[in-house]
Amino acid sequence: MLDVNNLVDGNQGLVNRRIYVDREIYEQELEQIFARVWCFLGHEPQIPNPGDFVASYIGEDPVLLVRDSRGKIGAFLNTCRHRGMRVCRADAGNAAAFTCTYHGWTYGNDGKLVGVPGYKEYYYEELDMEQWGLVPVAQVDSYQGMILGTFDPSAPPLLEYLGDIAWYLDFLIHRREEGIEVVGGVSKWIMPCNWKFAADNFIGDNYHIPVTHISATKLGFSGTLRRRAFQVNPMDGHGIISRLIDAEEPGSFMSTLFPEMAAYQEEVQVAMEKHLGDRAKQIIPIVGTVFPNLSFEAFTFRVWHRAARTRPKYGSWCYIDKAAPPEIKKQMHLFHQRRFGPAGTFEQDDGENWNMTTASSMGRVSRRYEFNYQLALGHEGTHEDFPGVVADGPSEHSARGFYRRWASLMKAENWTERINALQQ
Ligand code: FES
Ligand SMILES: [Fe+2]
Repeated sequence: MLDVNNLVDGNQGLVNRRIYVDREIYEQELEQIFARVWCFLGHEPQIPNPGDFVASYIGEDPVLLVRDSRGKIGAFLNTCRHRGMRVCRADAGNAAAFTCTYHGWTYGNDGKLVGVPGYKEYYYEELDMEQWGLVPVAQVDSYQGMILGTFDPSAPPLLEYLGDIAWYLDFLIHRREEGIEVVGGVSKWIMPCNWKFAADNFIGDNYHIPVTHISATKLGFSGTLRRRAFQVNPMDGHGIISRLIDAEEPGSFMSTLFPEMAAYQEEVQVAMEKHLGDRAKQIIPIVGTVFPNLSFEAFTFRVWHRAARTRPKYGSWCYIDKAAPPEIKKQMHLFHQRRFGPAGTFEQDDGENWNMTTASSMGRVSRRYEFNYQLALGHEGTHEDFPGVVADGPSEHSARGFYRRWASLMKAENWTERINALQQ
């Protein structure tokens, strides 16, 4: 196993470019990280009825998330136990069973092998059907409707894995009692960049906003709230940017281009204070990442999905409170597409950065020069009202935490070591 200690120094904010482009590191990442941590699989309302399924990924492993005929949610490797064909080739749908299109083995929506052509004549009834069901994802659980899974049976439970990031996520995905709903389906696209650039951008890079997104900001796609960002690292690997609410300097993070939505936002604030309590009077969490590859922005969550070394497949969802009026839901989808859809202003800006930083890391000479993640190094602290390590203003401390956790997991032999790594 490659020792990544000399490639990442999270405490000093130095990151070697090899970790974004090196094939050996990428393979180790799939094994040490993606095969063990909790990864996003789908949103509960995507599979409301028995037999509903969506296709997803954990790392490069295709996974089928299914609600079986009895209503139980499960997830399985989407690969036939006979000789590896994908058993379901649709992105989403409803099925009582999945029949492999290679030789016809059939699996129930609970993953059990229920049919084998020639079972009597060619297998002489000697095949142990019980043993050859689809491989289940070891643990599947959900938080506020977000379903995650891990292949590692010894991984800590989901809530423990999330830690205090859950406290902040409530503001985004559970700010009203009824929770959220996805509008407009899933957008998917492929981008030539390493997944970590996207994850570390969402975890706490508000430093880039006035430069990268200057045109989007000038066009009015950002809100009027100008308070300094409050950056939180609730546990190494997770991070979220929040804004402090200041009654003396009012404003909205909602774009002025959509006045009805800004008005709705004010309505929600009242509902949110009732639902989440006093904390809702103090901060507005806006954008963040749950380690490794699930990121949020107000009204969108996204997965840097298939972690191909330099070509991840993105999945992006637009969400809004379930209780929002239909007209607001429609507007929200439009608002999302214009900002963070595949051709959205912000998404295009960000994509260019990630594509080019990946390409520049390929260069033989460029690769010798590490990245600098030292912004506001040593200026982190705590806040009496909010969990986690915080920084008031632009800081790369959540990104430093992301790479510390990445490096710890890359070398940890087991979950005990990994848990220690998570708690650093
Ligand atoms: S590979 Fe699926 S039935 Fe042969
Ligand atoms: Fe951005």
